[in-house]
Amino acid sequence: MPIRLIVHGGAWSIPDEMDTAHLQGVQKALEEVYPALQSGISALEAVERAVNILEEDPTFDAGRGAFLNDQGEIELDAIIMDGRDLSFGAVAAVQNLLHPVSLAREIMTKTDHSMLVGKGAQAFAQFIGMEELDPRALLTDRELAYYHQIKEDPHFKSHHPFEPFPSDTVGAVAMDGKENIAAATSTGGTPRKMAGRVGDSPIVGAGAYADNETGAVSTTGWGESIMKVLLAKTVCDRMERTSALEAAKFGIQVLREKGKGYGGLIGINAQGDYAFAYNTEKMAWGWVDEKGTIQRRIR
Ligand code: GLY
Repeated sequence: MPIRLIVHGGAWSIPDEMDTAHLQGVQKALEEVYPALQSGISALEAVERAVNILEEDPTFDAGRGAFLNDQGEIELDAIIMDGRDLSFGAVAAVQNLLHPVSLAREIMTKTDHSMLVGKGAQAFAQFIGMEELDPRALLTDRELAYYHQIKEDPHFKSHHPFEPFPSDTVGAVAMDGKENIAAATSTGGTPRKMAGRVGDSPIVGAGAYADNETGAVSTTGWGESIMKVLLAKTVCDRMERTSALEAAKFGIQVLREKGKGYGGLIGINAQGDYAFAYNTEKMAWGWVDEKGTIQRRIR
């Protein structure tokens, strides 16, 4: 069975001048994690490591570089899911952490729960000794300037049906040498979101899903619409009946027609075939092909 790794860095009208940074970010995640996957790390470990790399990269709306909410604060959401037994961990509205996806994994493995939010999640992070950062360590000049640009704009909406706003959520899907699959997603949410707003990314079946018997998917885009159609689970279920690519396209069709929304997704089916689809102007994503060559796209 082939080893597989696919990652994304958001789906929206990515300005052309940001293409290179997106492609470099995607490439770094693939070139650092794929060799480890070949050396025997699990799919679960691979998706966490890949998302960690993307969380560190200030290009993306995850970890460092995340959007600010309407209070001028960063609140992060993330999920990780293991296709072996459907176990998952998720966090929402956490602050001061560079790697919310790693906290999600700790919740999955070290507690009886699947999801922690806000103060409770922060307290657990402290309890297990995760490094807590000064919030300024996650803030970029780009996002501070954007926050000041939009904060008093009475016409601003964090989404628009025809003009997708920035959505640089990151995600990864992997299959390891034991045919296990996993998915992970991490985000700062939408720009000027209300404090406490939670989007699709940490919601199981919406932001990610993984089931060894069907497939695994990570999504990006307008969270309120993605939640309506449980986009990741919709695509995984469809993978049982159609090719991976057709399942991805079906998911985006459902998102557009029933969810009246927009976004993108990546995935791998149980046979190891890659999937991707989006209805935004562009999506940034990359994968390692059958020959072991990194492929990157932004279009
Ligand atoms: N998809 C990211 C969000 O809406 O929060």
